[in-house]
Amino acid sequence: MRVLIVGSGAREHTLAWKLSRAAGVDEIYVAPGNPGMAGVAEVVGIAADAIVELAEFAASLKIDLTVVGPELPLVLGIADEFARRGLPIVGPSRAGAEVEGSKAFTKELCLRCGIPTARGTVVRDRREAAAAAASLGVPVVFKADGLAAGKGVVVCRTAEEVDAALVRFFEERAFGAAAERVVVEECLAGEEVSFQVLTDGTTVVPLATARDYKRLLDGDTGPNTGGMGAVSPAALPADVAAAILRDIVQPALAELAREGRSYRGVLYAGVMVTADGPKLLEFNCRLGDPETQAVLPRLDGDLLPLLRAAALGELAGLRATWKREATACVVLASAGYPGSSRRGEAITGVADALALPGVLVFQAGTALEDGQLVTAGGRVLSVVGQGATLADALAAAYAGVERIHFEGMQFRRDIGRSLA
Ligand code: AMP
Ligand code: GLY
Repeated sequence: MRVLIVGSGAREHTLAWKLSRAAGVDEIYVAPGNPGMAGVAEVVGIAADAIVELAEFAASLKIDLTVVGPELPLVLGIADEFARRGLPIVGPSRAGAEVEGSKAFTKELCLRCGIPTARGTVVRDRREAAAAAASLGVPVVFKADGLAAGKGVVVCRTAEEVDAALVRFFEERAFGAAAERVVVEECLAGEEVSFQVLTDGTTVVPLATARDYKRLLDGDTGPNTGGMGAVSPAALPADVAAAILRDIVQPALAELAREGRSYRGVLYAGVMVTADGPKLLEFNCRLGDPETQAVLPRLDGDLLPLLRAAALGELAGLRATWKREATACVVLASAGYPGSSRRGEAITGVADALALPGVLVFQAGTALEDGQLVTAGGRVLSVVGQGATLADALAAAYAGVERIHFEGMQFRRDIGRSLA
């Protein structure tokens, strides 16, 4: 079987690595990929958002299954483009991907279906936003409606911060067209969990739970990032997991189906477990990054049959089983990340890290210059440790991190610490 993976991050490297071990996979292509994936896949020079070109490539090579990593191609309609050509693909239609493409859509969907979420409203201008913030009181959260690479969420803890947010969203227009609509909602307190399911639109197969570390610095301080680390499992009580499935995931998928929004792929619920039970913070229409790097190594058995069944609408009767062992992922990022970051720094020690027991290294922002692996900005590597317990997994991951070096390397030293 020929598989195409769309994307170029450590999430996609993990998918390629896991699929390369599956029975029945003969060839793996990845577009646009990165140098780290060359060991397990053939790298194809097509951008992840060039959806027509990707569909033409998949048709010409008779690709049997395409798996989409990032949200942008999904929001642009890659699944529709493939469906038109009869090409199986894991990822929701453009209409389904609106759960991530529009936070206003999701907020209204939650209100319509009684899905527990932060109290809030969708506003269009400064006056409405100020009124919504005043009625909710501080702390309050402002969210740009559209895709903003994880940067369109601002938590305001004081009246001054509300004023500053009003200026940023409505005068400076810092988020451009993504903030034509803005969600203003109450700030929730609790533990965050990443709850992901694979679905064919009808049957739901929960993936292992994970916890993501979004802030740049230790102690959950500093700016929000794409994610600086993850652990799996997430220490989520079974009754809370059941409540997330019953009260958040199932009603959302039922409503999407009722509205004719085809959804065959991963639905990721970012959930705050509050004193009043789990509440939805956001949906993503794809696997989390770095959650995937922590979750997929724990999958017992092949990934291919599950993904194929999701794409073909044949998930009924299938389930995923997970190893009891824990995993921890530590992200190594370039100097300057999440702002504009440095590139071209030589990376050393990856092979040494990979030689350690229980250590995996997945690449993201890397490039090859005259045969030398160098940084290409942003999040550079995901170092994953596997172990019988979370403490063992963390020890393995950080032993791997110690072997690796590049100038300006940033990482958190407290991933998983509160759970281990
Ligand atoms: P989102 O992209 O909506 O998940 O927001 C990014 C991050 O901001 C989340 O992972 C949370 O840590 C935080 N966040 C978003 N919405 C809220 C909220 N209503 N209350 C507290 N924290 C939030
Ligand atoms: N780690 C959060 C995300 O993938 O959106």
